[in-house]
Amino acid sequence: MKHILSVDDFNHDFLQELIDRAAFIKDIRRNKNSNLTWSVLSGHLKNYLMITDFFEPSTRTRLSFEAAMTYLGGHVIGTENAAEFSSFKKGESIEDNFKVISGYCDVIVGRFLNEGEAHRAASSCQVPLINGGDGKGEHPTQALIDLFSIVEKFPNQEQLTVTFIGDNRRSRTVQSLARLLAGFDAVSNINFISPATLMVETEFLDDLQTRRVGSELVLQTSCLLDADWIKASNVVYMTRSQIERDNTGFHGFVFGPECAAILPENAIILHPLPRNSELPIEIDNDPRAYYFEQAWNGLYVRMALLEAICAKTAR
Ligand code: NCD
Repeated sequence: MKHILSVDDFNHDFLQELIDRAAFIKDIRRNKNSNLTWSVLSGHLKNYLMITDFFEPSTRTRLSFEAAMTYLGGHVIGTENAAEFSSFKKGESIEDNFKVISGYCDVIVGRFLNEGEAHRAASSCQVPLINGGDGKGEHPTQALIDLFSIVEKFPNQEQLTVTFIGDNRRSRTVQSLARLLAGFDAVSNINFISPATLMVETEFLDDLQTRRVGSELVLQTSCLLDADWIKASNVVYMTRSQIERDNTGFHGFVFGPECAAILPENAIILHPLPRNSELPIEIDNDPRAYYFEQAWNGLYVRMALLEAICAKTAR
């Protein structure tokens, strides 16, 4: 049985398989594969049931997983507010909660209030558990979507520079994507721009460096929105301030028209969404704004992942 709790649960071959399959599914959806219609996928997970058990708010993660399972012909039940409406409210442990519901379904997607809770849930879960985000910890499927979006845009390019701007310490999407990119040879430079209080920690940078074998990986940090870094970026990855996590505050960085003016013409702007003031809506019309496409890619990537995970149990 395979849980997806962190990006370490994707090895190189599995990543490639998922990216290829998601691209294939996207082509069908966008009518780029004239031989196949969308309905061919609708029997793939017939008789499978997915539970979404979410202890934290979500738009994209929960609904794209639910859409993915539904389009594949499976069934979905769940709770969008398990912290309020499940027996967690009556003092039930995470372990008991996941042990019980895992007897009702074939796969579970969980979202957790605190780092480490996905691992606790997995310890008692009898079916594959997908971590849909655990506090400040990880968000492996978002990283998969982000990587898919980068590879889609730069299929053959090497020496890519990715610049993370915003709340790099508390964003689980940054934690997961940076780890995934550190093991991805086509990326040669990763920059982190945050105020000191929201900067990634030294141990995290050390961990990233240990993930690189073979080619060189240059890691840099800055507390200033350095124009030269924007000019050198292929990918800018913005994040909002995760103010619900602790009281270490806001980052004040905004990727506005002045930044867009110096970003290379073929670069892309990513954001896991939801956005706040760090990414003004006037950027939406910029041809390099890729964040809505990135969010829509969530459907195809999660369909590919559900197929791969459920294929291991016949129904
Ligand atoms: C992110 C999350 O929940 O970590 N959203 C997402 O899943 N796309 C980002 C965020 O909450 O800021």
